Amino acid sequence: MRLKMRRMTMRTLPGPLTLPALGLGTWRLGERRSAQAAELAALRLAVEIGYRAFDTAEMYGEGGAESLLGEALSAALRGSVERAALYVVSKVYPHNASTQGVVAACERSLKRLKLDHLDLYLLHWRGSIPLARTVEGFERLRARGLIRHWGVSNFDLDDLQELAALPQGATCVANQVWYSLARRGVEFDVLPWQQARRMTLMAYSPIDQGALAQHDGLKRLAATLGATPAQLALARLLAEPGVMVIPKSTDATRLRQNFEAASLTLDAATRAQVDAMFPSPRRKQALAVN
Ligand SMILES: NC(=O)c1ccc[n+]([C@@H]2O[C@H](COP(=O)([O-])OP(=O)(O)OC[C@H]3O[C@@H](n4cnc5c(N)ncnc54)[C@H](OP(=O)(O)O)[C@@H]3O)[C@@H](O)[C@H]2O)c1
Repeated sequence: MRLKMRRMTMRTLPGPLTLPALGLGTWRLGERRSAQAAELAALRLAVEIGYRAFDTAEMYGEGGAESLLGEALSAALRGSVERAALYVVSKVYPHNASTQGVVAACERSLKRLKLDHLDLYLLHWRGSIPLARTVEGFERLRARGLIRHWGVSNFDLDDLQELAALPQGATCVANQVWYSLARRGVEFDVLPWQQARRMTLMAYSPIDQGALAQHDGLKRLAATLGATPAQLALARLLAEPGVMVIPKSTDATRLRQNFEAASLTLDAATRAQVDAMFPSPRRKQALAVN
């Protein structure tokens, strides 16, 4: 047996917070009124399946994704799910990331999400506002209890180093970047740097926006293991310490399959076969950006 089932792995962030190693992405949700009922049903199903970490952003559907997620989560909280079991991540637009702007944007996000705090709040990507101002906003939010932790997204190594050198910069707990088997550039420098600091790497587009599910080699290998290619793609990333994946799906079967990927362990031979198809880089690559 080359695939082993185990309990959902947790990722520990500095401090008391632990995050499930797999969460649900919500990009493209909340954009179309005609899709809302189906998207809400998918989010509610995700909670039922056992998803407890959710990644969203004020950008997604210009608040539409947060609003839908808020509806699904408030229904869950009225049921048997406790707030302490949820891990809600949202992101601020770079143009809102001034000290005051971050605070105001977070308050708007919380209102849409119907929550009193976020577990993690990220700068979506680096813009023209100096990082120190954004960090000050994040720290104000933290002091008020509106966020538990803050982090960044789409930061390459030089950006991370610059951030770490700022006062309070080292309190950044996560960097969310494009990381999939087809884009392993971060393994050369960003991931080791983050691992050394126990800064979680949140892998976005971990199925490469669906493309890896169609990859012939992965399909063949997955078939021999009784898994799906997407599960293999997710499980391989999860074999790296400190990595969390946030695949998005609104399809019932794929939501289940993706969730199960967090309970799969690949043996060394399988990892080697995957790595032969998708080699890890041997030199610096610019960060992939979606
Ligand atoms: N920080 C950033 O700048 C940034 C950028 C991009 C994404 N993100 C976050 O990362 C999340 C995930 O990334 P993503 O949505 O770009 O890409 P992804 O999760 O790699 O792939 C999602 C796409 O693949 C399909 N899919 C999902 N599971 C599948 C499976 N098991 N088999 C076949 N197809 C499958 C989905 O369609 P169905 O829904 O029909 O299953 C969807 O079209 C986003 O939703 C968002 O929360 C962040």
